[in-house]
Amino acid sequence: MSDEKGSLGLGGKTIELPVMQGSMGPEVLDIRSLYGETGMFTFDPGFTSTASCESKITFIDGDAGVLLYRGYPIEQLAEHGDFLETCYLLLYGELPTPAQKADFDYRITRHTMVHEQMARFFQGFRRDAHPMAVMVASVGALSAFYHDSTNIADPTQRMIASTRMIAKIPTLAAMAYKYSIGHPFVYPKNDLDYASNFLRMTFAVPCEDYKVNQIVSRALDRIFILHADHEQNASTSTVRLAGSSGANPFACIAAGIASLWGPAHGGANEAVLKMLEEIGTVDRIPHFIARAKDKNDPFRLMGFGHRVYKNYDPRAKLMQQTTREVLRELGLKDPLLEVALELERIALHDDYFIEKKLYPNIDFYSGITLKAMGFPTTTFTVLFAIARTVGWIAQWKEMIEDPGSKIGRPRQLYTGATRRDYTPINKRS
Ligand code: SDX
Repeated sequence: MSDEKGSLGLGGKTIELPVMQGSMGPEVLDIRSLYGETGMFTFDPGFTSTASCESKITFIDGDAGVLLYRGYPIEQLAEHGDFLETCYLLLYGELPTPAQKADFDYRITRHTMVHEQMARFFQGFRRDAHPMAVMVASVGALSAFYHDSTNIADPTQRMIASTRMIAKIPTLAAMAYKYSIGHPFVYPKNDLDYASNFLRMTFAVPCEDYKVNQIVSRALDRIFILHADHEQNASTSTVRLAGSSGANPFACIAAGIASLWGPAHGGANEAVLKMLEEIGTVDRIPHFIARAKDKNDPFRLMGFGHRVYKNYDPRAKLMQQTTREVLRELGLKDPLLEVALELERIALHDDYFIEKKLYPNIDFYSGITLKAMGFPTTTFTVLFAIARTVGWIAQWKEMIEDPGSKIGRPRQLYTGATRRDYTPINKRS
């Protein structure tokens, strides 16, 4: 805490509020005493100017286009490490030693199977159920199977629940996909790395051996790293709020998945591909740019804009590189990539997007890459959820382990009816 104070003059009274400094990024005005001292709340729907917590996990500088996981630039982690190394870093705060990495890989790998009865859950869904609906339900159902790791006050149980969640989310995701196409579930294999195991569980069929494409697997692993955490975004804030009531971690992650599903958040990657398919060809781009700028048209350029990044999302640049690598490796030419590149070029030179600082975000290119890998559009946000599970868990763990954490309970500006007496129905006209 710095000695600096913020002075607030209200109703002829001046109150002083402490200013708190972090290790990087904006200072914060500590308003915890405001209501007690003034009887007033602050008003900040959408939390555009509100720090909801203190955290040591992820730092974003939206103006500079910087993203750090525990201080390490996302570009370096994506280039030099793998997803499970990033998971360890987010969970424990430091890069693992070789022995720690081997132990963590071993623990995660050996928790990838789910209880055999989980398979029956899927039978209740229509085959064409959206896989995010299946994920919300099946992840929430994990709390019905793993009572031995739902006591959040026990650090050992928190660690077991964290390990189980990170390990099992790809298995459930693959099962949701297999169920949707009427294929048998494929069990995990312990001799495969995280991304390769998921690819095999998703695309292998019992009647032939499945060979993992190492370039595709490495690209998917990198995509998981890019999506692993992102400070206090909507779904992470949902997980923190759910966890603040003491709800078990599986239920909190199910809440995070539900929030991520929205097209303004993680659902944008699915929406981007639908938008690119609707645009279809480069010559139709100007029409859609005009719609995106038209106040009376609800259409938005999906994959563009961000609450925090007012510069290029560093993940989008890495995603674009990965898209090119995967298309080259698979010998594919996707006309939608040409549409996306031209759409980006035009938008980045358009005054509307420049003035509003709207740049491509991580979702703009991820859909093209995932489509090239063979994933149906409806599974794109599921893959986002696989990667983000470690971020949700790390943020939930940080909150639970914070001795000062309290149940989240925001207030409101009430503008409804003032007090009035009940009118019996026979007296109402
Ligand atoms: C993710 O928070 C995170 O960190 C999220 C995420 C993560 O890793 O967790 O990064 C992942 O969710 C990325 C964002 C994916 N969503 C989309 O791509 C959907 C399209 N983008 C928008 O809906 C929007 O940009 C948001 C939701 C991402 C951000 O919205 P904000 O910060 O609330 O900004 P806003 O809606 O107030 O927009 C500011 C202005 C508005 O114009 P004015 O009312 O000021 O005239 O910019 C305009 C908006 O109309 N605008 C757009 C636009 N996004 C904002 N106009 C056209 N196309 C767009 N995409």
